[in-house]
Amino acid sequence: MVRDEPESTSPAPGAARPAAAPYIRDAWYVVHESAAVRRRPVSVTRFGRRLVLWRDAAGTIVIQEARCPHRGADLGLGRVVEGALECPYHGFRFNPAGACTLVPCQGKDWRAPASMKVPTYTVREEHGLIWLWWGDAREDYPPLPWLPRFPDEPARTSSGTLEWDIPLPLVLESAIDFHHVAFAHRRVMPGVGTLVDPFEVEREGDVIRSRGVIRKDDGQPYDGASGFPLELDVHFPGVIAGRFSPRITLFAAICPIDHDNTWMVFRYHMRLPVLAKLAAWLMVWAELKLVQPDDMRMGRSALACGRSPDPALSGCRAVPADANILQWYKLYRRRLAAQRGRDDEAPPAKRLPIAVGE
Ligand code: FES
Ligand SMILES: [Fe+2]
Repeated sequence: MVRDEPESTSPAPGAARPAAAPYIRDAWYVVHESAAVRRRPVSVTRFGRRLVLWRDAAGTIVIQEARCPHRGADLGLGRVVEGALECPYHGFRFNPAGACTLVPCQGKDWRAPASMKVPTYTVREEHGLIWLWWGDAREDYPPLPWLPRFPDEPARTSSGTLEWDIPLPLVLESAIDFHHVAFAHRRVMPGVGTLVDPFEVEREGDVIRSRGVIRKDDGQPYDGASGFPLELDVHFPGVIAGRFSPRITLFAAICPIDHDNTWMVFRYHMRLPVLAKLAAWLMVWAELKLVQPDDMRMGRSALACGRSPDPALSGCRAVPADANILQWYKLYRRRLAAQRGRDDEAPPAKRLPIAVGE
């Protein structure tokens, strides 16, 4: 007798983990907060590369590959001298366009070969955030994916960052998931309802808008007042603005550190007449110390159970309350199909022009 076995969602024992999908290209990503880069250069890992962030003589942000083209030291350990980035190892200097302007051991008048340069990225600095264009150079870059839903009011805003040992798609899922709140965050929000109703998702271009109410499943139609209303906009791939009440607005942005790890920045804005900054700080504290650890636990547990960031969501069974997540994956697959054949591991210098002075 043949039994109709449900399809297994677990990988076969010993099966190799699926290859990581390429990074989503031709998009702006927040790679750091403006406040994190002051007089000294800072190096971070994003897109699997070591990048150095620094400010030129005018205070303009510059992002370059951190690997010194001489013998590979991390330029982020160096310093900024006369508007140029000085390598900590032998003192070679690089200007904001990436050209080597000084090789001290050869003397002031020695001209370095043109190949002695650091690849430089296209960047913007707005809303207190540093944005990097990951993708092909173009004449006109699209506007930054800032979601106007988030008020730009530093006096009522606080922020924090964290790193997840989880791939970007799974981080994104948890950030826009409405119906995990009552379970994954039970200890932080006890008594939140389990039902998501009403729930509406619409997509316009790269923006996915979700509106819903998390409420008790009391068998009654929605009365228009009870429950926990939630609004979340995602600008694909990783910029999120949410509103939890007329007073609480969240902004979050995510960026891949590499294929397995993800960086995230959170900002809370509180519409309060007094102590708004303190209230926002407390929200960020709760998010980082209480809420996100719950989400990370779920993400890690899914990975341990064989879940992968597979764009096809294979092995997953979605329900209607996952509609916004499904929309995100739809865009994800579409973008990956459009960028197929372009190797995201190729040096960006081949694709990206000098950012400064463009
Ligand atoms: S490694 Fe940078 S100057 Fe030598
Ligand atoms: Fe969560």
